[in-house]
Amino acid sequence: MKNVKVSTLGFGFMGKLHTISYKSMPYCYYNFQYNIELDKLLTTRDINTISTGYNSHVNSILDLKDADMIDICTPNFMHKDQINEAILSGIKNIYCEKPITGIYDEEKEIVKMAKDKSINNQVGLVLRFLPIVIRTKKIIEEGVIGDIINFNAHIYHESYLNPDRPISWRLEKSKSGGGALIDLGIHIIDLIQYILGPITETEGYTKTFINKRPSENGIKNVDVDDFAHLDVLVNEKTQGCIEVSRVFASGGEDTSIIIYGTKGSINLNTKNPESCFLYILNQNAWLSSENYKFKDSEDDIKFLWPLGKFSLGTMVNSHMASLFCFMSRINGKTFNFIEPPTFESSASALKVIDDCYNSITK
Ligand SMILES: NC(=O)c1ccc[n+]([C@@H]2O[C@H](COP(=O)([O-])OP(=O)(O)OC[C@H]3O[C@@H](n4cnc5c(N)ncnc54)[C@H](O)[C@@H]3O)[C@@H](O)[C@H]2O)c1
Repeated sequence: MKNVKVSTLGFGFMGKLHTISYKSMPYCYYNFQYNIELDKLLTTRDINTISTGYNSHVNSILDLKDADMIDICTPNFMHKDQINEAILSGIKNIYCEKPITGIYDEEKEIVKMAKDKSINNQVGLVLRFLPIVIRTKKIIEEGVIGDIINFNAHIYHESYLNPDRPISWRLEKSKSGGGALIDLGIHIIDLIQYILGPITETEGYTKTFINKRPSENGIKNVDVDDFAHLDVLVNEKTQGCIEVSRVFASGGEDTSIIIYGTKGSINLNTKNPESCFLYILNQNAWLSSENYKFKDSEDDIKFLWPLGKFSLGTMVNSHMASLFCFMSRINGKTFNFIEPPTFESSASALKVIDDCYNSITK
């Protein structure tokens, strides 16, 4: 067994979900090789260590410097200083929730600094770990649906449809970097770039449907988008459309990508993370992606994705797979069919988001 000392920053939604993941890994993975010690939790909340499961609670990043990996789960505007301080204090392995900061120029600087200081890093662009994404990428690489002509992708949530939901850091541009496009768009933009290639041109528009929301100090204006529509070009030739919303009644969430090729199409939806649908033109048949399992890539899936009976749901499974991937990488494991999302992946998606925001002000 290899000891891994994990220290976490922030104990909101993500801090808790990541902690559930660390605690569950030894139960959910066969022959798990790590002894995870939940060491320090950086939090200002008045909670005891029995509720969090960490050895101790601290206020300063300097207290985290003997961690084998740190895990940043704080709001976006805090990431930049926390990454800077972590690197200065000698921490070498940094996992950070997406986006790195939500501001493209800052993200470029952080990518450079991490490279200069040889920091192992990963961001929480966890949809890359879904079996359907790994299978889709392989199916496309194998030419099963031919040359890609077009795609249509959306990530619709209803999380801010209720106008009475109060302002939070996510609804303030100075704290989040932007609205739905930053918060959710980054996931689907990353997937498109990961599966199909770099987005080379972007035009779009955004809309804020609910302009005012309650706050502790009365009604406040919202200065970020609820919705965004992007028309993009991939690899300078393939057109596609991406839509993002936090105000669409979608049964909670609906995330889907349909990719059209010259020999067929592929349709994936995160509601079914294990299986997507393939249409094969010359057979005039819809097939489940189970018919297109490639033995070698299935090994990577089996390693990181919890088996059915140990599934904790797509949200925890995907974060757990991503965190396990990072833990494995810093201990020398490589993956053949998964390219882990890094600071660079976040910055690259931020460039697309920046281009969209800039195309609106032209
Ligand atoms: N990859 C994903 O699927 C995913 C999903 C949700 C959130 N995230 C990311 O995780 C990060 C944290 O998001 P979250 O949903 O856990 O947020 P959250 O608001 O639930 O929790 C944030 C934590 O930071 C603490 N905090 C410290 N200073 C704060 C301040 N000045 N203002 C507000 N909170 C402060 C809060 O007490 C809380 O513990 C964000 O970067 C977010 O984008 C990623």
